[in-house]
Amino acid sequence: MTPIRPPRATFHQLRTLEAVVRLGSITRAAQELHLTQPTVSAQIHELQTALDTVLVEPAGRGIRPTEAARMLRATALDMFARWQRFEDELQALHGLERGVLRIAGVTTTEYFIAQWLHRYTTEHPGIDIELAVDNRDAVVRRLREETIELAVMMLPPDQPPLESLPLMDNPLVLIAPLGHPWTRQGRVPRQRLQGAPLLLREPGSGTRLATEAWLRAHGLQPSIRATLGSNEAIKHAVAAGLGLAILSRHALADDPARDGVAIVPMSGTPIERRWMLVWRRDRRLSLAAQRFVEHMRAAAAAPAGGAAA
Ligand code: PGA
Repeated sequence: MTPIRPPRATFHQLRTLEAVVRLGSITRAAQELHLTQPTVSAQIHELQTALDTVLVEPAGRGIRPTEAARMLRATALDMFARWQRFEDELQALHGLERGVLRIAGVTTTEYFIAQWLHRYTTEHPGIDIELAVDNRDAVVRRLREETIELAVMMLPPDQPPLESLPLMDNPLVLIAPLGHPWTRQGRVPRQRLQGAPLLLREPGSGTRLATEAWLRAHGLQPSIRATLGSNEAIKHAVAAGLGLAILSRHALADDPARDGVAIVPMSGTPIERRWMLVWRRDRRLSLAAQRFVEHMRAAAAAPAGGAAA
């Protein structure tokens, strides 16, 4: 058997090359990897010298990866996947006693995700949890930057390509302060929202996106009174009479009166959405993340109320 020659490249260089080819830019690769541009350029240069091939060509004010660079990136991804498999096998050898689950949830999930994580860690006590709670755009960024493996959200993006597991319904409801006349009637026609005072979440919020899409679909233009950065701030502002708002039912107490608000029985609501568990299709999940997906799949399939039960 011919002896295997060790690769003429380091993992660091390959990781950098992978980002440069994927992003098509030295600058953006440097940002993503938290390196300086000269470091990224130097690593690419070292690779070119070691392999005696051109990996990037100048194009306009930036660069263009060559065919050789794309081939090298595919090879690097295979090697990373193989390495990940080895780490998984190593973990399996230790019986999954150790490991870290890196997961993020959009802001509304803070009202229920801890229960899911608690049940999971009861089954897998050796796994540490790193949970980030942020708005939709920030969670999408974390998926792109791979600082998390799993995310819980209602509006998954097209990019990066994702696998998803539907978990449970996420009804979005219109809320008003306690005692508001609309909360004391039967059905309130949605046309009443035209010109009505409405509060919105900040740009980047999925709740805001879903609200705007619904308003647009029905040709409604409320009067936007304020933009607030969290569900809690929205609830307080609604209770104080600043305006109405559309929020996930899961952001409210079982009895919304405890938040000083009531659900308006408006036609066309609740807006039916779903909570999804998502992960990148182009990456292999760690064993800790795979187990969480399996755990949630079993919970979502359970007859009594799915993941929420
Ligand atoms: P967000 O969450 O409003 O906190 O972004 C909603 C979602 O995107 O699912």
